[in-house]
Amino acid sequence: MIKGFIFDLDGVITDTAELHYDAWKKLADEMGWEFDRELNEKLRGISRMDSIKVIMDHNGVSLDENKIVELATKKNDIYVNSLDGMTQEDYLPGARELLTHLRSEGFSVALGSASKNANKVLQQLKATHYFDVIGDGNSVSKSKPAPDIFLFASEKLGLRPENCIVFEDAEKGIDAAKAGNFLSVGIGPEERVGHADIRFNTMKEATLFEVKSHFKDLF
Ligand code: BG6
Ligand code: MG
Repeated sequence: MIKGFIFDLDGVITDTAELHYDAWKKLADEMGWEFDRELNEKLRGISRMDSIKVIMDHNGVSLDENKIVELATKKNDIYVNSLDGMTQEDYLPGARELLTHLRSEGFSVALGSASKNANKVLQQLKATHYFDVIGDGNSVSKSKPAPDIFLFASEKLGLRPENCIVFEDAEKGIDAAKAGNFLSVGIGPEERVGHADIRFNTMKEATLFEVKSHFKDLF
């Protein structure tokens, strides 16, 4: 039986990819590194430190760990400042409606995000109250595609993975859900999340009715 839902944040509840892009781009320009939207796509769902390493690899750069942390912190300061402009208008269409519906039907709801800024994003959206459990980049040390963040969330909800559905927009996020034995809903194109149990192009189509009709024996 499905009793709980675990949501990724960036790309599922709200679209922060462009804000991450702007912040990485600013850092990359300062460093004389190449960075474009195609490379930004590869950072979807992965941690900040994994992200900077992907950018450095792409540019054939190697630096010592302290310098890498310093640069990642610089990018983060730019990103966090840009979150000040985020409001309740910035939910992805359909996301708030789904969260409201799940609460009214009595499902348990958790966040399972790689971001260390998840609490700030939820505050800006005024979304904190939708979640029984908040799992973020500070909750576990192994990030997606490891299943740890989703296992953390389900354990805190008091549910087994097979009783939870994970919503994810990232390829590595679906990999993480599968590795943890969770059912998964992919949000985005086939080439990115086609390996999810069910896929929708956008959150707008991912209604509780649609999800229930796909997993009908499990409700
Ligand atoms: C994920 C984003 O949710 O969080 C990634 O999809 C980001 O792009 C990661 O790198 C870590 O975020 P933060 O806010 O801790 O730098
Ligand atoms: Mg995401």
